[in-house]
Amino acid sequence: MSILVTGGAGFIGSHTCVELLQNGYEVIVVDNLCNSKEESLRRVQDITGKSILFYKVDLLDQMHLEEVFQNHQIQSVIHFAGLKSMGESVKIPLRYFHNNITGTLILLEVMKKIHTKNIVFSSSAGVYGDVKNVPILEEAPLSVLNPYSRTKLMIEEILHDVIIADPEMNIAILRYFNPVGAHPSGQIGEDPNDIPNNLMPYVSQVAVGKLPFVRVWGNNYPTPDGTGIRDYIHVMDLAAGHIKALTKLDQNPGLITYNLGTGRGYSVIEVITAFEKACQHTIPYKIMERRPGDAAISYADPTKANLELNWYTQKNLEDMCKDAWRWQSQNPSGYP
Ligand code: NAD
Ligand code: WQD
Repeated sequence: MSILVTGGAGFIGSHTCVELLQNGYEVIVVDNLCNSKEESLRRVQDITGKSILFYKVDLLDQMHLEEVFQNHQIQSVIHFAGLKSMGESVKIPLRYFHNNITGTLILLEVMKKIHTKNIVFSSSAGVYGDVKNVPILEEAPLSVLNPYSRTKLMIEEILHDVIIADPEMNIAILRYFNPVGAHPSGQIGEDPNDIPNNLMPYVSQVAVGKLPFVRVWGNNYPTPDGTGIRDYIHVMDLAAGHIKALTKLDQNPGLITYNLGTGRGYSVIEVITAFEKACQHTIPYKIMERRPGDAAISYADPTKANLELNWYTQKNLEDMCKDAWRWQSQNPSGYP
């Protein structure tokens, strides 16, 4: 029995493939490589000494997707494939809706046809929109601030309807907070196409000399040092959460939703300081205006995942920065 990983060549997907292979699963990846390179999968195989079956297929291409399902006995799907830039989604919303939502509809249609019942879906803390209270529980009110997050919320709602129509399905919705870091080998990591939007890859690129300074979006928030606070989670801890979710789906739980975060927040300045320690030199930064749509503070209450999945994060901010730095310094231009 195999696990089909959509978007498996990407940042979180590639790290999850390492965990899957190391836990004895057979892994099939479907990815159109629109935001990744096949080299990541080659390196996953190097790290694990195991092989992956890779199909360069777009989820929008139902015929080829169906062939993959027909050619293998797929037990469960982990669905990472999607476009993920909040800023870009404001400029090209239709592309986000088509790729993320239609892509998911086609995947669900094929799963229905082939009778594959288990799916883990990558949702986002973005579905909590304008955060009012922290830590954030799964029951917190949902709202969205951009089309990207709307695709996540709409897919969550679609999944709720799908399971009513087919109660034999098992669905895990995982809401990630701020995934960062890299595999400790430094062989795989986050490889943004353009100038990064997210904090940690931006800081990494300043540290390695590709960018001149970090732009700190506001230092007048109601936080101890005035900069925004987020729940950064090491990508290997996140990957481990997917293995726990798969195991849970084997117990036929129906639809389950979990926050995957550490439960602890760090400010922008704390992240820069921790990164300076990891790379052992200073990282220049400038305080800028606030970025529109940013919350002051966002961090998870991960208790539900702790108790029901027996999943606990193992890595701290120091590990996240050390591993991000190892990846960045060994691969200053990302994957070749
Ligand atoms: P990523 O861009 O590195 O990986 C996504 C992968 O999906 C890429 O390899 C891309 O080529 C592939 N893909 C996109 N559209 C496709 C399509 N139509 N058909 C086939 N493949 C397609 O992103 P990531 O950071 O690894 O994120 C993985 C998932 O987790 C995404 O759904 C993202 O929205 C979600 N997520 C990410 C974060 C984050 O900060 N990285 C936070 C919350 C949720
Ligand atoms: C973190 C903090 C910024 C960049 C979103 C989603 C989350 C996930 C990641 C997908 C904030 C500050 C940032 C910079 C800065 N994505 N910052 N200078 O916006 O918290 O999270 O993206 O689903 O689910 O919610 O992440 O890394 O952009 O920002 O000062 O150059 O760093 O203001 O306080 P964000 P981020």
